[in-house]
Amino acid sequence: MIFESHAHYDDEAFDEDRDVLLASLAGNGIDTVINIGASLESCRKTIALMEKYPFIYGAMGVHPGETGELDEKGFQWLRECCGLEKVVAVGEIGLDYHWKEPEPDVQKKWFIRQLELAGETGLPVIIHSRDAAKDTLDIMKEAHSEEIGGVIHCFSYTKEIAREYLQMGFYFGIGGVVTFANARKLKEAVVYLPMDRILLETDSPYLAPEPNRGKRNSSLNLPDIAGEIAALKGIDREEVYAVTHENAERLFGLKRKTECGRHGGQ
Ligand code: NI
Repeated sequence: MIFESHAHYDDEAFDEDRDVLLASLAGNGIDTVINIGASLESCRKTIALMEKYPFIYGAMGVHPGETGELDEKGFQWLRECCGLEKVVAVGEIGLDYHWKEPEPDVQKKWFIRQLELAGETGLPVIIHSRDAAKDTLDIMKEAHSEEIGGVIHCFSYTKEIAREYLQMGFYFGIGGVVTFANARKLKEAVVYLPMDRILLETDSPYLAPEPNRGKRNSSLNLPDIAGEIAALKGIDREEVYAVTHENAERLFGLKRKTECGRHGGQ
């Protein structure tokens, strides 16, 4: 079965056919989805999705580009959401200097606060970092992120940066970009990364892999991403599904949760 570690099914791009699409995932081998909060509103919608669908779990966080909306009241609400049973991570959080909106100081402030929130709640983090490699790494080291754990979503940096995150015990979310012909550095990084640190993700509705590049993305495209990883690693696609599933369960504590549930029922 396939584990989708990063999707935004609350996005309006799915308003027309969300229920039909989500109902089709299991039949296509996708048995678990983490829906990722990116703003307070999308966290609210993520909670509704995880309450409706047994196979959807949630991550609660505010994307760097949306941190302008945060204040103490909003942050307090976010903290309360982290206590919900099916919330498995804080994210997506980080820095985005491609769009310097809001200004870096605001992004940094709320990145640090949300990292601290993850530390307090014991949840792993889902990191969004674009054109901000150094600041992201500096802040994460300062916050002792090796004790928090998590995944670098849509990893887009070099092998050298990957090594730093490996040493911190982090996982790497690999998505559609790996299928792009010009993604030479990312392909090199994937060859370098140990299989037990890779997660499959789409970032739906964004970043559809080849041959659907530019179209709306969905978890149904995960086989194209897994196929490229398999080719780079010289293994078969089924092994990519199995190992990344195991990795995601380990990171998000899902195995432990289902086992506890089973024992509790005896
Ligand atoms: Ni995302």
